[in-house]
Amino acid sequence: MSKVSAAITAVGAYVPEYVLTNQILETMVDTNDEWITSRTGIKERRILKDDGKGTSYLAIKAAQNLIEKNNLDPKSIELVIVATATPDMKAASTASYTATEIGATNAFSFDMDAACSSFLFGMSVAASYIESGRYKNVLLIGADKMSSIINYKDRATCIIFGDGAGAVLFEANDEGYGLKDEYLRSDGTGREFLQATYGGSSHALTAEVLEKGGHYAFQEGRTVFKNAVFNMADAAVKILERNNLTKDTVDWLAAHQANKRIIDATAQRIELDEEKVMINIHKYGNTTSATLPLLINDYESQLKKGDNVIFAAFGGGFNWGSIYLKWAYDSKN
Ligand code: UT7
Repeated sequence: MSKVSAAITAVGAYVPEYVLTNQILETMVDTNDEWITSRTGIKERRILKDDGKGTSYLAIKAAQNLIEKNNLDPKSIELVIVATATPDMKAASTASYTATEIGATNAFSFDMDAACSSFLFGMSVAASYIESGRYKNVLLIGADKMSSIINYKDRATCIIFGDGAGAVLFEANDEGYGLKDEYLRSDGTGREFLQATYGGSSHALTAEVLEKGGHYAFQEGRTVFKNAVFNMADAAVKILERNNLTKDTVDWLAAHQANKRIIDATAQRIELDEEKVMINIHKYGNTTSATLPLLINDYESQLKKGDNVIFAAFGGGFNWGSIYLKWAYDSKN
């Protein structure tokens, strides 16, 4: 009997309408288009302006896009996972609300947070449920309203992050398509370099903290950069070696969109031609949990059945890794 694998069979996405360009940021903080473009590759990012709308708004829109594009009956979905670092609320999961709003009334649901690796780790969780035979399909959504934890007076962070969401459906497959291998790691000593410190259970959000902006995300960019370059590339190399893949047999690199220089370094380590490297950081910036599904959505029409796709991510925690997935379908859209 052949082993059941977990294949991506549908994709959807959503980004908010408002475009925050480098030129607009020039009027907000001491920065310039040339610096941002050359250091990060980012030209613009999308921001969800409405105060009353949280990450679930983005997640619902992305899931609805997937459902409509693929004529999917939401009642057939068995599990909804929302990968996010910016849940709607501290308690009451974003996933439960999302699942109900999209009509996935036969599903159970939960949130998952591994910062910028949330979606990558979510792929592993979704696939495991399917490979075990317990469920036949899982809707995995990566969504973040990063603007809710960004200080738009801090040029070290506000130029990087954006809001967005992407969704993929994992389904059981008995032809060998889908997730083939993974190399995932965490190192908690990295948390001091990238965090939103206050408002959790260890550091209370007092009026004084709020006044100082302690509720916003902070990162020591250079340290995170060095660790990202080393670990993302290292994980991708390990995945290629373990699966006897070469630069010629890999069809695509879908790497977390945090900084174009980190993506380029990873591609160079595995000697991949530029045209095989998925890129959309110039349009959306770093959308944390949404970067990987937004890439897959943007490149869906170019992906072919049987393509070897290497996913890679690195983020706060630190959390990082790489996944090898064999693409399961030629685009219908
Ligand atoms: O997705 C989660 C993981 N996150 C990441 O992977 C992000 C990793 N880090 C990075 O992408 C980069 O470190 C940044 C884009 C955040 C910063 O780029 P960098 O090349 O590491 O710059 P830096 O922090 O070393 O700063 C270089 C210079 C400094 O000036 P001096 O000290 O050399 O005079 C900064 O003050 O650039 C200055 N600078 C800026 N200048 C204009 C820092 N931010 C800005 C800015 N505009 N926005």
